[in-house]
Amino acid sequence: MPLGDITIFVATMTGTAELVADEVSASLSNAGYSPTIRLLDNLDAAALEGIDQFVVISSTYGVGDVPDNGMGFVTSLQDAAPDLSGRHYAVFALGDRTYGESFCGAGVTFDALFERLGAARLTPLMRHDASSGSLPEDEAAAWAAGWAVRKAA
Ligand SMILES: Cc1cc2nc3c(=O)[nH]c(=O)nc-3n(C[C@H](O)[C@H](O)[C@H](O)COP(=O)(O)O)c2cc1C
Repeated sequence: MPLGDITIFVATMTGTAELVADEVSASLSNAGYSPTIRLLDNLDAAALEGIDQFVVISSTYGVGDVPDNGMGFVTSLQDAAPDLSGRHYAVFALGDRTYGESFCGAGVTFDALFERLGAARLTPLMRHDASSGSLPEDEAAAWAAGWAVRKAA
């Protein structure tokens, strides 16, 4: 069953989140979505215009911070505060529990921001722990397949 267009936005420092995006895209495609991957570089709130469904895949740097390539997007959304009601989103956060309280801080920031702007979650925030030994791209593929299949049912 076609599930429509979905944009996968990527915030990354060293590229791991891009690998994750490829796997999520493949899972969503298998389930019936038509995914497009976009790095957040140079994007602002206008990137969400006309987009009903989106996924953000973000690592975390500094002390719970959004990667540099996603900062402009976040700041723009905070400033413009567009009404995102009627939009649907999911966030996959890459992080490492050894960073303690800032574990997956960027993912938490994205998830809370979209909720505050009125968007609805397709699925709860997913946090991958690099110290667990599992590969984020493997977990992400299963994660996306899990909620996409429920939408298709
Ligand atoms: C300098 C540095 C700071 C980091 N800070 C955090 C952090 O505060 N919280 C967290 O959960 N992970 C933190 N991480 C872990 C990264 O988010 C994790 O390794 C992620 O998989 C990197 O993905 P990327 O290659 O897409 O940027 C940090 C990693 C580095 C190298």
